[in-house]
Amino acid sequence: MADEEKTQQQGKGDSRAVARDDDLQPTWTDKDGNLHRRRILTGDRTTGKLHLGHYVGSLKNRVRLQKEYDTFVLMADVQALTTHWENPKILKESVREVALDYLAVGIEPYTGGVDDGTKTKIVIQSAVPAIAELTCLYGLFTPMSIILDNPTTKAEAQQYGFGDGAESKTFIPDHQKDEFGQLALMLANQFPELGTMSDVLAADLLGIVSSFANTDDVSLRHELEKSDYQISPVRAVIHNARGMRATRDAIIAAKRSSGIRQMNYGFLGYPVSQAADITFVNAHLVPVGVDQVPHIELTRDIVQRFNRQYGKRRRILTEPQALVGKGGTLKGIDGNAKMSKSLGNAIYLSDSPDEMWKKIKPAPTDPQRARREDPGRPEVCNIFSYHQVFCQAAEEGIIESDLGVATVEEVAGNCRGAKWGCVECKQQLHRKITALTEPMRERRSYWEQHPDDMIDILKLGTQRGCEEGEATLERVKDAMSIRYWN
Ligand code: TRP
Repeated sequence: MADEEKTQQQGKGDSRAVARDDDLQPTWTDKDGNLHRRRILTGDRTTGKLHLGHYVGSLKNRVRLQKEYDTFVLMADVQALTTHWENPKILKESVREVALDYLAVGIEPYTGGVDDGTKTKIVIQSAVPAIAELTCLYGLFTPMSIILDNPTTKAEAQQYGFGDGAESKTFIPDHQKDEFGQLALMLANQFPELGTMSDVLAADLLGIVSSFANTDDVSLRHELEKSDYQISPVRAVIHNARGMRATRDAIIAAKRSSGIRQMNYGFLGYPVSQAADITFVNAHLVPVGVDQVPHIELTRDIVQRFNRQYGKRRRILTEPQALVGKGGTLKGIDGNAKMSKSLGNAIYLSDSPDEMWKKIKPAPTDPQRARREDPGRPEVCNIFSYHQVFCQAAEEGIIESDLGVATVEEVAGNCRGAKWGCVECKQQLHRKITALTEPMRERRSYWEQHPDDMIDILKLGTQRGCEEGEATLERVKDAMSIRYWN
């Protein structure tokens, strides 16, 4: 009952999917005057070590709030396998690396005994059966539309090659490349709705093959077969207006369906599993990077559907809110919109100061500042955007005066006035980031020397996760009338 009561107590400001700082209400008081902590759950795929982008987007908020909220951090190893199923061997090392990253940034782990909510439970997803069961149950009433329209899954599908780009691997025999090129050009000119040339090229073979193999238009097929179809189907199409139109239609149809059809079921559905990740502890708050907000919205949608359908007037599941890091998204050090391992533009929390300098030193700056004397434009410089993110954070050891480095305003002034060269500016940034990560390196080295203690932490956190998951699952099954005995 206490649990249920807890989930009924919602914060005031939780009508929004993304929380603002003044929405945060870490505690609530029950009618007997007892104080309870609300919960945080957040997590990471265990596909490799974490980087500064993770820190800015989410880790920083977790560390800041763990003292106030009852915090669970999930190592999403099953979700990692939605894109890395062919390579499960990476998990073991990644789980170790991510656990070290957590402890290094200052997560204070639960180490057994009575859980008073002041320490963070680090939980391994695959070891909590309730998450898998909830995923299955939520899938029963989650409409496909909200899965297919999820912008984050769509973007990731492209990144992992499930999307439209995937057909570019389509094999075109060498002796036909010119013909296909010509066809692509003609299609692009004639049918602008097909998109860019490269899109057309990517889908062309598929389009041609299916337009001939599948056309219901017998007379068209007949017509084409009469022409030089036997010699070259491509040339036949080029010379036939109806063939061109059929090809266009086929390409459009292929583009529409291919991304989804190549996806594995687990990947397409992982946001539903993420809803289970969040709700198995009835979390109120989910500190995440901004790319995860669609998943929090989807979770809220699932929770609302569940409570409406099965909860009668009770709120059985809790609607979570996202908490997005203030620094926004940290760009890659190469200036790419996203810092990511797969783009090779990440500065890892575990990098040594030397490794960090090797990445910062060659990083692009204002392209118009060719010579030292040219005035720079901080507003277009990626290094300046880093200066803006890593500034004046006393709690993180970035105190400009102590480090003997310039404040953001001074950085901008020195750049505009060409008082500095870019190298000097980068050296100062390097000093700030080194200061931020120095205590992390110390804590990491402690835990590297205590691997058994780290495993214990994972076991104990996961055990607490399992207890919470079982309790939630029981209430969910009760509500769904799928419990047949006690
Ligand atoms: N999808 C998240 C990411 O790619 C990782 C994740 C898995 C997560 N489960 C979660 C985040 C639950 C927040 C809550 O970074």
